[in-house]
Amino acid sequence: MSSNADLIISTGFQQNGLPVLITPPKGNETADQVNRKLWQIYSDSIRKAAASHLSVSGGVLFRGFAGEQTQEKFCNEFAKLFADHLLSYEFGSTPRTDLGDGVYTATEYPSHQVIPLHNEQSYTLNWPLNIWFHCVVAPKDGGETPIADSRRIYNKIPIDVRQRFESKKLTYVRNYGNGLDLSWEQVFNTDSKAEVERYCRKHHINFKWKDGAELRTWQKCQATAQHHTTKEWVWFNQAHLFHVSNIDLATREILLDVVAVQDLPRNVYYGDGGEIEESILAEIRGVLEQETVYFPWQQGDFLMLDNMLTAHGRSTFSGDRKIVVAMANAYSQPL
Ligand SMILES: [Fe+2]
Repeated sequence: MSSNADLIISTGFQQNGLPVLITPPKGNETADQVNRKLWQIYSDSIRKAAASHLSVSGGVLFRGFAGEQTQEKFCNEFAKLFADHLLSYEFGSTPRTDLGDGVYTATEYPSHQVIPLHNEQSYTLNWPLNIWFHCVVAPKDGGETPIADSRRIYNKIPIDVRQRFESKKLTYVRNYGNGLDLSWEQVFNTDSKAEVERYCRKHHINFKWKDGAELRTWQKCQATAQHHTTKEWVWFNQAHLFHVSNIDLATREILLDVVAVQDLPRNVYYGDGGEIEESILAEIRGVLEQETVYFPWQQGDFLMLDNMLTAHGRSTFSGDRKIVVAMANAYSQPL
C-alpha cells in the first residue's frame, strides 16, 4: 500500500499485482464532493497513478471515484482523462450497442456464456492500446471481467508451441450473417459493399462476396507482439476463441450440418493454411486458465487496461449486469 499525491494505491489487491487498486483518500471530502466531482478533484493524481502503474501491472482499478455518476457519460469523461479521442468499434467480432461518444456496451452474449480471455481486436492488425470498463450495474452473481497478464501467458506457453505460432502466424476466417453471426453490415457499420471493400483493402483484409450478397473475409495476423513501450513480448491472438473447438461439440455438429467448414461464422488456421491442432489449443487454454485473475465488480468501478499487456474475458452471470466500454489509441505493428 502506498500513496500517490494522496490516493490510496494497493498493489496487493490480487495475485501478481494485477490489477492495482486505486481509491480516493478517506475522510476529508464533503458529501457534495463525494457525490459529484471526486474524479475531477483528483484528476491529476489519477493520471499520474495510471502513468506509474499501468505499464508495470497492465491494469488499474479505480474504485470509489464515481460518486453518483455511474453512467455512460461518466465513462466517456473518465476515459478522456487519459486520451483525447475515443475509438469507434470497427471490424468488431461481437454484438455491442453504440451508446454514443465512444462508449459501447460490453459484448452482449447471453449471460450463460463464458467469453474466453482475449486482448481486444488481436484478431486483426490494428488494435486499441487502451481499454476501459465502467461498472454501471454490478452483477450480484458472477459476471466478473476476468483478466490475465499477457506477458506471463507468453512465458508460460511451451516454447515449441510459441515458436510454431510465431513462425507460421495465424489466418482468421470470418463468414458474416446467415443468421449465425453478425451481418457484414453490422461489422462494417455500412450497407455499402464498396465501403466494405475499401475498408478491407486499407486494412489488409482479404474478402470474397459469396453468391452475390454474403461475405467471407480472411486475414493473416500476428500470434505474439512486442509491447510498444516496454518492449516485452506478449501472447497476442485469439486462436483459442476463433477456432471451431471453442464451440461445444453438440453445437459444432449442428452447425456443421448446416454449413460447410469453410462457411463457419469464424475459424482460424495457421498462416500457411494448416489446421491448428486441438491438443495445442487445449494447452493454450490451460495456460490462460492458470493465469486468470477474478475480482467482483462494484458499482462505479473503472478498470483501465493496457490492451497489449492484459487480456480480459467475461464470466457467466445471473440477474442484471451493465458494464460499458471505451477504447483509445489505435496501434498497429508490422507483421
Ligand atoms: Fe473484449
